Amino acid sequence: MWAMKFQTPFIHVFKQGDAAKRPLLLLHGTGADENNLLDLAATVAPDRTILSPRGRVLENGMPRFFRRLAEGVFDEADVIFRANELSEFVLGARAHYKIASPIALGFSNGANIAAAMLFLRPEILAGAVLLRAMAPLTALPNINLNNAPVMLISGSQDTMIPMASANRLAAALAESHANFTRETIAAGHGLTQSDVTHMAQFFKDNA
Ligand code: MLT
Repeated sequence: MWAMKFQTPFIHVFKQGDAAKRPLLLLHGTGADENNLLDLAATVAPDRTILSPRGRVLENGMPRFFRRLAEGVFDEADVIFRANELSEFVLGARAHYKIASPIALGFSNGANIAAAMLFLRPEILAGAVLLRAMAPLTALPNINLNNAPVMLISGSQDTMIPMASANRLAAALAESHANFTRETIAAGHGLTQSDVTHMAQFFKDNA
């Protein structure tokens, strides 16, 4: 069948899955790409439709979802621009592939852009799993996430993510009328089996 190509600046993977379940928007960490989280998604949320873009910002050749001035210091104008750009990608992909609004599954920089989307474009995502996220903006606006499921998993020994910033994000999400859960596990920045267990339960609870 002849199909029109999806015109988008985002290199991405799309895989059709079970249409009865929410699609996943996979958002990789710094230096990874659109393939990085596919195995994790297959493990914690099998059979889901997958939409997985590559971040369009390059830092010394490493893909990211927004610019930073230093580790943990973000170019907030770029955060805002990129969160909107990615939101438009999701809307375009939904129309093109005929899919429902996705739940984001983001790690590190990908979790930070997912958090930015929740606060700047709260209508785009149906929920989010934020792995090792911090507050993407100095000022987080008041939002109403209408009971959307959101889980933040922090590592208590994570040296990349300042805990005060992760806590600020958690406090804002707790006020956002999301169905919000926060887990702080004994881990560093890298993912552990405990992350996998929490995620698998989250996706079992949120088809
Ligand atoms: C970020 O820049 O978003 C965070 O510092 C985490 C990361 O490096 O991916």
